[in-house]
Amino acid sequence: MAADLIVGLQWGDEGKGKIVDLVAKNYDIVVRSQGGHNAGHTVVIGDKKYALHLMPSGILNENAINVIANGVVVSPAKIIEEMEKFGDMQGKLLISDKATMLLDYHAQIDQAKEKLRGKNAIGTTGRGIGPAYADKITRTALRIGDLLDINTAIEKLEDYFEMNKGYFEYLGINIPSKEELKKELQFYQDKLGILITDTTRFLWQNIDKNILLEGAQATLLDIDHGTYPFVTSSNTIASGALTGSAIPPKKLQKVTGIAKAYTTRVGNGPFPTEDFGEDGEYIRKNGFEYGTTTGRPRRCGWFDAIAAKYAVTLNSCDEVALMKLDVLDGLDKIKVCIAYEKDGEEIDYFPSNLDNVKPIYKEFDGWDKTAGVTKWEKLPKNAQNYILELEKLIGCPIKYIATGAEREATVMK
Ligand code: GDP
Ligand code: IMO
Ligand code: MG
Repeated sequence: MAADLIVGLQWGDEGKGKIVDLVAKNYDIVVRSQGGHNAGHTVVIGDKKYALHLMPSGILNENAINVIANGVVVSPAKIIEEMEKFGDMQGKLLISDKATMLLDYHAQIDQAKEKLRGKNAIGTTGRGIGPAYADKITRTALRIGDLLDINTAIEKLEDYFEMNKGYFEYLGINIPSKEELKKELQFYQDKLGILITDTTRFLWQNIDKNILLEGAQATLLDIDHGTYPFVTSSNTIASGALTGSAIPPKKLQKVTGIAKAYTTRVGNGPFPTEDFGEDGEYIRKNGFEYGTTTGRPRRCGWFDAIAAKYAVTLNSCDEVALMKLDVLDGLDKIKVCIAYEKDGEEIDYFPSNLDNVKPIYKEFDGWDKTAGVTKWEKLPKNAQNYILELEKLIGCPIKYIATGAEREATVMK
């Protein structure tokens, strides 16, 4: 065996957590390879609801080993907080010594810069993701492995603060004292030391096992291929999962793309199929579209087949899981974007920027109820037709259809 990947095809929150949880029993190892605690993956099991941020969703499956790999920006404070909900992590969680360390000042920089941007704010989660990745790229970040030698870590941090003194002052961010740093890092070392390892070697030694890469964020938030600058700071697509985990490219086997039966977005930036009317509001209410991480209302709109096809191609998807079909239950008409009008011209591809893009829609007849349906034959004809048409438009088979938040509310087609 080798590695399979679950990747978001839209602007995040597609329901990746639900699918990872659903399939995790088939895997020995579940890996997070990028992003940080900007992610919020919800898993519903029975009457319990778990919101996972840094912790791979495999934690809810007893036998899986969970890996936070090199490409993730890890807040030691946040992963410690999450670990506490799941008991003893030894043998269940490994954290890469090469992962970037995200500290509190990253979040403070993130929030201060968002304020400075004013009306041009990106609408980040304010968790410090961008500043942490910026330090990685400028080679001034601490890595998680630095927690194993605190004295050297403090020296590095003191150099870092010295270099950035003016910048911190300008943004109004306090620089912690040496004593504070020592206490903080010691706490992290005590809690995490035993979990820190060379996950590259671990994954290579276990490459013949069943490995699942759990994507965070999604294709349209990719730093290179998304709607820049309204994106996150990592490569969220399939190739990013390989860089971020050290899984050799030829060991990637199956790619499952996750898309909602409509589209949502949190934060600012272009969103051609956003619906500002009653239907958008209906979707928000019915789908409970509020962020898992920040609680912000999600912007809602129709399925964008042009964007989804772009994402299917970028990730070389073998199959798609279509999520939250039940949220469209009860709508009279359902729209799907099948082309764009850009600067007065009709185009059938996702352009490098979405300036002046307007959606061209095809309208479908709605249906009464799909909520809780578990068999293809039990789906209303109009819902079946909707799914079959989407398959054609995006050029990829839709294998899973989710009809509710629970594990069981899933149709395997
Ligand atoms: P992720 O970030 O991609 O893992 O997605 P989130 O967890 O942020 O958001 C998806 C939300 O939709 C969560 O609250 C899920 O419990 C919920 N959900 C997932 N699949 C379905 C579905 O098929 N129907 C409904 N109604 N809710 C779903
Ligand atoms: P999951 O894994 C939805 C969005 C933010 C903002 C932009 C940049 O749950 O799908 P950042 O804090 O990353 O610098 O913010 O990216 N964003 C997400 N939107 N789901 C996510 O994760 C997201 N992670 C970041 O809202 O627009
Ligand atoms: Mg989410």
